[in-house]
Amino acid sequence: MLTHDQDGFRRAGRPHRIVSGALHYFRVHPELWEDRLTRLRAMGANTVDTYVPWNFHESAPGKADFTGWRDVGRFLRIAQGLGLDAIVRPGPYICAEWDFGGLPARLLALDGLHLRCSDPRFQAEVDGWFDQLVPELLPLLAGRGGPVVAVQIENEYGSYGDDTRYRAHVERALVERGVDCLLFTADGAEDAMLQGGTVPGRLATATFGARPTERLDTLRRYQRTGPLAAMEYWIGWFDHWGDDHHVRAVEDAAGSLDELLASGASVNLYMAHGGTNFGFWAGANHTGSRPGEPGYQPTVTSYDYDAPIGEAGELTPKFHAFREVIGRYVPLPELPLPEPRPRLAPALAVPAGTAPLLDALDALTDGPGPVHRPAPEPMEKLGQSHGMIHYRTSVTGPRPAMPIRIDGLGDRAYVFADGEPLGILDRNSPDEGLDLAVGPSGAVLDVLVRAQGRVNYGPLLDDRKGIWRGVRHGHQHLFEWEIRPLPLTDLTVLDWARAPVPAPPSHRPASHRPAFHRFTHHVPAPADGFLDVSGWATGLVWLNGFLLGHYDTPRGPQRTLYAPGPLWRAGTNEIVVLELERPGAELPVRDAPDLGPAKTVTLD
Ligand code: GLA
Repeated sequence: MLTHDQDGFRRAGRPHRIVSGALHYFRVHPELWEDRLTRLRAMGANTVDTYVPWNFHESAPGKADFTGWRDVGRFLRIAQGLGLDAIVRPGPYICAEWDFGGLPARLLALDGLHLRCSDPRFQAEVDGWFDQLVPELLPLLAGRGGPVVAVQIENEYGSYGDDTRYRAHVERALVERGVDCLLFTADGAEDAMLQGGTVPGRLATATFGARPTERLDTLRRYQRTGPLAAMEYWIGWFDHWGDDHHVRAVEDAAGSLDELLASGASVNLYMAHGGTNFGFWAGANHTGSRPGEPGYQPTVTSYDYDAPIGEAGELTPKFHAFREVIGRYVPLPELPLPEPRPRLAPALAVPAGTAPLLDALDALTDGPGPVHRPAPEPMEKLGQSHGMIHYRTSVTGPRPAMPIRIDGLGDRAYVFADGEPLGILDRNSPDEGLDLAVGPSGAVLDVLVRAQGRVNYGPLLDDRKGIWRGVRHGHQHLFEWEIRPLPLTDLTVLDWARAPVPAPPSHRPASHRPAFHRFTHHVPAPADGFLDVSGWATGLVWLNGFLLGHYDTPRGPQRTLYAPGPLWRAGTNEIVVLELERPGAELPVRDAPDLGPAKTVTLD
């Protein structure tokens, strides 16, 4: 058991310092959990920290899945077998650059619901989640022989709100269900955040990236006695599409770590190994759209984070520098350092057909067919969490050119009139319109909306996808819509038999005509590979039916998508690229990542 008193942490009664590393099972292929945890232990960490994302487990209310990739118990037991303690942060909100901060998308269909506060409807949802999660965790608690020594209440709650009753509710919800280990909160090391986020009688910890002495002094004003812990010490940073690839200098990160540990504090390195935002799971940031603010910023697919253990398990220079610093404060394990993992040989994937998305709408639609609504509705209202969504209506004519505008768009709309591309609308340019003149026979208007990650941090958390207000031609609202949810979870419905092989690049239309492009790739044995999408524009990539994630090359910075070994098969593999704007000429498989030109960040 981990406890704390005036002097610090105690583990099994002896003075103890937590040297933890964040490593999220949901961002690592389950066949690689042991590999990554072994690397973490080899760096000298004595503890692993993971969040538990509610939306990853519970796709329908009351039906949480804890098997396969979602078997958090297996992950924690592997950690224990390697000699690691575990810190679990079950939210219910986790932030973490994860879609909607881990909250299930269906909450956005509940009109008037207030998130992360004592709104009884929100608290009832949290209770329903903990009713499923906590029984999974109980046998893993240290008091019952498991590895879990501490559990976090909410996440940086003071960065969002100040609801005392809600914080107490989350605390009680854990305790009443049997969580009897050390409970703590984690907040930014600032007065307002610590006031808003701490829970009386529970250990307060802090999150920061630099100036540890100053930050821990601030924390000390709220945690008057006992151990000080940096529950997130940011050793690198994440990236957004349209921004730089962030790295943090090794000496800077290792220097602050040394200062932190020299002060006697405990630490959780965020991230020790970042992993990947596979599927539709990447989150987004959005703090406002006033002049000078970046607006909506979706997070990239890689969550490498410039962490000491790279996205593909690489032991980076930061790993070796941290190991050396950690070794000054806690004993390092007497283990050989893990070897690099095998990589695929560089090669070009072989084109094997294309299938235009607009021709496959009915096959891809979730449910028996399109739904009919007077006005467009966001995907959450139709029971859809992720993917794309298609809206169709007709416009009468004749009428002169007037702009088509979308009010409430998440996130990018591909607009067609009578099947011909009219243009693209983006949520960050809400005033833009696409001129449409209609002939006497009228026009069919198709709006295909691509959703990227839901906002996971800040005041604008309730980020609906699709269209949540309406579509106008001039000032006239367009009504009577046919809507097709396209969750894109099953591509076997695509009819490749009829699909032509791609035309040579010079004959491809410049304007957007979203299409699936199929490739095959033969490998002698599974190994890690990196799919190079730098010649493509924007879309999604699947490997053997598994969605690797989004790419958005012109906006950058990420140019290759990590395809871990366990997703490949010896022999022929299928790669499908859904390109929304401008297909590339070829699809190279590479043996090294390219996350874009690096820019060094200075953290606070
Ligand atoms: C905060 C959150 C984390 C993560 C980091 C930034 O500290 O608690 O979940 O979002 O910021 O990576």
